[in-house]
Amino acid sequence: MKISTVSVSVPVSGLQRRVSIGFASDFHIRRKKEIPAIIEALERLDTDCLLLGGDYCEEADLVEPFFAEVTELKRRAFAVWGNNDLPFERELLRAGRRWREDDPEEGRVCWLFDDLLRREGYFLAGLSHLKRPDLPENRLVFSQRPLLILAHTPDAILRLSKTEDVTLLAGHSHGGQVRLPFVPWWWSHTKLGYRHGEGLSRRGRNVLFVGRGIGCSMFEIRNVPREVYRITLVPEGEWERDGKGDGGGS
Ligand SMILES: [Fe+2]
Repeated sequence: MKISTVSVSVPVSGLQRRVSIGFASDFHIRRKKEIPAIIEALERLDTDCLLLGGDYCEEADLVEPFFAEVTELKRRAFAVWGNNDLPFERELLRAGRRWREDDPEEGRVCWLFDDLLRREGYFLAGLSHLKRPDLPENRLVFSQRPLLILAHTPDAILRLSKTEDVTLLAGHSHGGQVRLPFVPWWWSHTKLGYRHGEGLSRRGRNVLFVGRGIGCSMFEIRNVPREVYRITLVPEGEWERDGKGDGGGS
């Protein structure tokens, strides 16, 4: 399985200095033998902080082996759940842990369920794809800045107004997953639609970066590149000065 490492700069309003993070989503692991290639791709990112955007495994018994390997990477890993993860709640809760204020800097992956945490130089909000009334969806107030939001689907930005200066990282679209030659890509199974279906885009003052992911949902067919991202968060002012203020791609 060939997984490309893509370096991309993403503007964040209010940020004072550049920050490097790794980002990956939509793994959809079907077989144990797929795990080494994915772990190798995450290792190549070579960043202290990994943000994982959900849709991890297609079988319950793959969850523990995958996250055991993620833990071995010895990175600070924050993760949200995708729609595909909901059947594996028990296994996921065992493989990682809910984020807590006093969490140590290393160890198992931290699940973010509408949690907000302070990172060095910015705030990180994690929005998991939850549909359970006993879990705390929609309790977050997005008043802190600079704010980076990690979510599974780009539709999470619909919780905020277009006038909010925030940056969102998401997956879910798989870049269309299957793209046919000479046929425009129109399908994205999001409310936002294909304009925010991959790469960098803007919705008013919101900045979105949507990754293409690694695996396949539904059918095991994919011709869109499998990608993980080495993201440099760039202060908005620097971004404008570098001439990328028109929202160019990765
Ligand atoms: Fe997915």
